[in-house]
Amino acid sequence: FDGAGRYVPPGAGLDGLRRAAAGCQGCDLYADATQTVFSSGSAAARVVMIGEQPGDQEDRQGAPFVGPAGKLLDKALVDAGIDRSDAYVTNAVKHFRFKQDGPGKRRIHQTPDPAQMSACRPWLAAELHIIDPEIIVLLGATAAKALLGPSFRVTRQRGRLIPRPPIDDETARQNACYVATVHPSAVLRADDRDAAYAGLVADLKVAAEVLG
Ligand code: URA
Ligand code: SF4
Repeated sequence: FDGAGRYVPPGAGLDGLRRAAAGCQGCDLYADATQTVFSSGSAAARVVMIGEQPGDQEDRQGAPFVGPAGKLLDKALVDAGIDRSDAYVTNAVKHFRFKQDGPGKRRIHQTPDPAQMSACRPWLAAELHIIDPEIIVLLGATAAKALLGPSFRVTRQRGRLIPRPPIDDETARQNACYVATVHPSAVLRADDRDAAYAGLVADLKVAAEVLG
């Protein structure tokens, strides 16, 4: 496996990327998952939300954030005042990584390893290049580390605007930024779920303010 790079069609739009990603075999994850889960939203989106990887429901349905974490994210976006139609939703890794103790057993999420994350990165880079959003929301440690490096700590650096270097010299925006927050799944698992949810919404409001 040598990564997604050679599957990314040069100059393609989002539809072209989506079609090509369906056949990606850039890492081992394509083999056991049901399908590539690419993204939802349009190239005109002003905000990009990046999760970790599809979950069980996303793997079955072929769309990001449609399971329990997605329901929570939808609600948090409403509470933060972000229009879902302004948002492009994607993941750092496009195939579901899981372990399963036998046929018919529940599939248990596993965090993608660094090799799988870097294998999948060309898809994310191509998406961001096309969309060039005003703000990128990093949902959880995997997405944050993928974009901001392995030493980034969500717990310490969440909810702050971080300037984004230009993606491309000619088309890049000057004032684009990132904001990191907790993953919606972590909110679902939290002991104090109300407090965790309020924290997620507060961080999303930082993004909402950028959008004005
Ligand atoms: N968790 C993610 O990170 N992404 C999804 O699409 C669903 C759950
Ligand atoms: Fe390709 Fe990413 Fe799927 Fe790996 S996880 S096969 S790199 S789309």
